[in-house]
Amino acid sequence: MGIYKLGHVEARVPDLELAAAYYTEVLGLVEVDRTEDRVYLKAWDEHDHHSLVLKYAPRYGMEYMGWKVESLDDLERFENAAEEWGCIVERVGDHELLATGPGIRFETPSGHNMMLYYLMDQVGNGLPKTNPPPRPLELVGIAPKHLDHLLLTCEDVPETSRFMSEALGFRLVEQIISGEGHQTSAFFERTHTTHDVAFIKGTNGGLHHYSFWLDNISDVMRAADILRLNGVEIEIGPTRHGISRGHTIYFFDPVGIRNEVFTGGYYVDPVQWEPITWTEDQIGKAIFYYEGKLLPSFQGQHS
Ligand SMILES: [Fe+2]
Repeated sequence: MGIYKLGHVEARVPDLELAAAYYTEVLGLVEVDRTEDRVYLKAWDEHDHHSLVLKYAPRYGMEYMGWKVESLDDLERFENAAEEWGCIVERVGDHELLATGPGIRFETPSGHNMMLYYLMDQVGNGLPKTNPPPRPLELVGIAPKHLDHLLLTCEDVPETSRFMSEALGFRLVEQIISGEGHQTSAFFERTHTTHDVAFIKGTNGGLHHYSFWLDNISDVMRAADILRLNGVEIEIGPTRHGISRGHTIYFFDPVGIRNEVFTGGYYVDPVQWEPITWTEDQIGKAIFYYEGKLLPSFQGQHS
C-alpha cells in the first residue's frame, strides 16, 4: 500500500520546440502526445503513457512531480496525512489530466507541487508480450529505460524529511549531517533502490535535476559520447557518487534544466534498513567520489 513509484514530472520550458527536439533526438525519449502548450514524453521501456511533460512557460523549472499509489484508498489516506501537516489538498478527477487517473495534489512543506494518483493509461514499451526481443530496433540517442529519481532543494531539510517519512511513508536511505549535527541532505526511496527523491539545502520549491536510468556503466560512457557529439554541455562526468555508489553524468537541456543519467546503486531492505550517514567534512566524496570535491556551482546547494 502507498506510493510505489515516481510516475512523471511536468517541467516548465520557455522553448517547447527546442526542448522537445532535445528530449526526443538527444536524450532519446519517445513523444507520445502533444497539445497546444504541452509535449508528453516517455522513456522507451516505460509502459505508462508519459513520464515527462514539457509545458510551455516563460521560466524553466519543475511544475509538479507525480507519484503513483497502489490503490484508490491511498488517496484518502494521504489526503488526511497531508492535511494534518497543514497542506491544502485538492482532488484531481479521473482523466482531468491527460491519460492520468484520479489523484490529489498539494504543496509540500518544501514548497514543491506534488500529485499522487492512481493509474495511468498504458501504452506499452513497444515490445510484444509474447517472445519479446530485449529492445526495440528504433531507439534514438541515449534512450534511457525509465525516469529514475529527482533531486530537489528546500530550506529546511529535517522538516522535509519528517514530512516525507511520516506523512508519505518514504524510507531514509542516506543522509549528510553537518558538524553541528544538522541534516543537510536526505535521500529517500519507495522502490528499494538508493533513492527515488532526495532533498538538499537550497531554495524552497527548487529542482536540482531529474535523472534517467541506464542499465550499466557502458551505457553511461556511450551517453557521454552522444552528449558531446550533439554539443550538449556536460557539467561533470562520467563519474561516480559516494552516496548511492551510482555512476553518473550531469548535463543541461537546452533551456537550462539539469539532467542526469544514472546507473548502479544497491538494494535497500524494506524491513530492516539502517540509514547511511556521511559527515559534512566528507561531502566532496559523498557527492563526487572520484573528484573528492564539489564543483563551484554546487557550493551551498550540494549534490
Ligand atoms: Fe541524481
